[in-house]
Amino acid sequence: MCGIVGYVGNENARNIIIDGLKRLEYRGYDSAGIALADPEQGMIVRKKKGRIANLEEYISGENLFSTIGIGHTRWATHGAPSDENAHPHVSADGKIALVHNGIIENYVELKKELMEKHGIVFSSETDTEVLTKLIGVLYEGDLEDAVFKALDRVRGAFAIGVISQDEPGRLVAARKDSPLIVGLGRDGNFIASDIPAILKYCRQIYLIENNEVVVLTENNVQIFDAQRRPVRRDVFNVTWDADAAEKEGYDHFMLKEIHEQPEGIRNTVERRMDDHGEIVLDGINLTRETIEYFNKVYIVACGTAYHAGLIGKYAIEKFAHISVEVDIASEFRYRDPFVDDRTLFIAISQSGETLDTLAALREAKKKGARVLSVVNVVGSSVARESDDVFYTWAGPEIAVASTKAYTTQLVCMYLIGMYMGRKKGLLDDETYQTLMNELLVIPDKLETLLQKERVVQDLARRFYRSNNVFFIGRGPDSYVSYEGSLKLKEISYINSFAIAAGELKHGTIALIEKDTLVVALATQDSLFEKMLSNIKEVKSRDATVLAIAKEGNTTVEAEADYVFYIPQCPDELTPLLSVVPLQQFAYYIAKMRGCDIDKPKNLAKSVTVE
Ligand code: M6R
Repeated sequence: MCGIVGYVGNENARNIIIDGLKRLEYRGYDSAGIALADPEQGMIVRKKKGRIANLEEYISGENLFSTIGIGHTRWATHGAPSDENAHPHVSADGKIALVHNGIIENYVELKKELMEKHGIVFSSETDTEVLTKLIGVLYEGDLEDAVFKALDRVRGAFAIGVISQDEPGRLVAARKDSPLIVGLGRDGNFIASDIPAILKYCRQIYLIENNEVVVLTENNVQIFDAQRRPVRRDVFNVTWDADAAEKEGYDHFMLKEIHEQPEGIRNTVERRMDDHGEIVLDGINLTRETIEYFNKVYIVACGTAYHAGLIGKYAIEKFAHISVEVDIASEFRYRDPFVDDRTLFIAISQSGETLDTLAALREAKKKGARVLSVVNVVGSSVARESDDVFYTWAGPEIAVASTKAYTTQLVCMYLIGMYMGRKKGLLDDETYQTLMNELLVIPDKLETLLQKERVVQDLARRFYRSNNVFFIGRGPDSYVSYEGSLKLKEISYINSFAIAAGELKHGTIALIEKDTLVVALATQDSLFEKMLSNIKEVKSRDATVLAIAKEGNTTVEAEADYVFYIPQCPDELTPLLSVVPLQQFAYYIAKMRGCDIDKPKNLAKSVTVE
């Protein structure tokens, strides 16, 4: 995890870097730092535990100026959050500074060697300092050369930015398995972990590939492969607006993103229909023969994306009659799964940089699977390493808690399932038309639903002091209950637990006691009666029940204490609606508890470590 940013040009790097770091804070925020190479004062390094605001305050009294610099916002892996462990780190003579996102796996052996052979003294517990000191030892007046030599010695994942006070017009960067982009500006060039960090200054981007080293000066950018051969890269023009990454008047990014769901879904669906109303998969070549050749689909993801995968399984099995396994990425890669060239492997990821998902994808590819990814961030690692990419058009998602990425992932999974079913001749015209028409009106229904925010707010006020919350549901509702529970726990820190309603009686019901809040999803017409029985079960243990049901299914009122109604829609697609009040419920509860909603403790937006 962590975010890096760097600049070389003719402006004051200090301001550009602090500004860029603020936009990268979602990647980690336990400490931050900046290094500026000043020809007269030498290497100036300032770093501070805590948010970027702490760093900003720390340097506010100083008149720092340099036309080259690097910055970092950290999410701790090796060594606790502290001033010492914060980046940038410096070489033994203090002349070279480095920022790093990733993990150097062989840092222990390198550290031992640097201490024993070179008498190097370390001031932090980080793996990053080891790489910095190594570059320092290998430096003979050419930073690019020293970086190449050092990278030959390290194992692991990294995106780095390095500067030397002896070469104050040159910034060297490199990547392997951690994201890195280069921005081409009018008044200089940039590096960053993500595009929004530098979008204010430039729209022309180079997407840096694994094992590439980049050398930037004010007027020039050169990319080299691992053999030091120059690489030609096409410029990627960013067309979306920097404003899309701002809060636009909402108190939090999460709330803004909840409200952006109708638009995200609209974009994701409408771009995928041809003139005859048939689904188009962005040029992905999945013919009937190819689909029939697959004997298995694996969907692999983490967290919220994994929950979208569960709905994906439901959609593909229901519409295309192909057996689907869904797995958590960190489990998939270590259990030697049965994958071959008859497997369609679907990776789902908002960021496209989640290391576990990336590693699982590589594993599947190695075993011969065809890899299709459902990704939000264009040009991300998952997207680039997949055979085919089906983008969610959610726009940038900044809040750590995923909302609009989830609903657009659901849409993609429905579209993939329906497309496959259609190709196989399993989805008749009438069913297909009903589902497609519904997908097209879901954004309008969501807009109506979002207007009932007040109702959710009142419910949140009633329950924000809860210590334990249970979420139950059946069929697709059980998958949505997992997501509702994750949302609540990650931003409000309330202990919450989700379980398939029918499973409750096999143990978990022991935890239900007087006034325990149970959120019961009862949106499936075909399972409605069964859910009413489950609600009765918890009610007879004195739980308080908040039910989510479809408008018109008022019999639930006889069993539940509170009911929130979502608009009518076919059972298959209710997750697109029912998850929204759960997102709002989590949001308002967290707000009432005074939590830091967009940046919950211990978390980061993009998890680029194992
Ligand atoms: O970027 P990804 O979709 O691959 O991220 C996967 C999870 O880390 C992510 O969904 C996480 O669970 C969210 N914070 C949940 O809101």
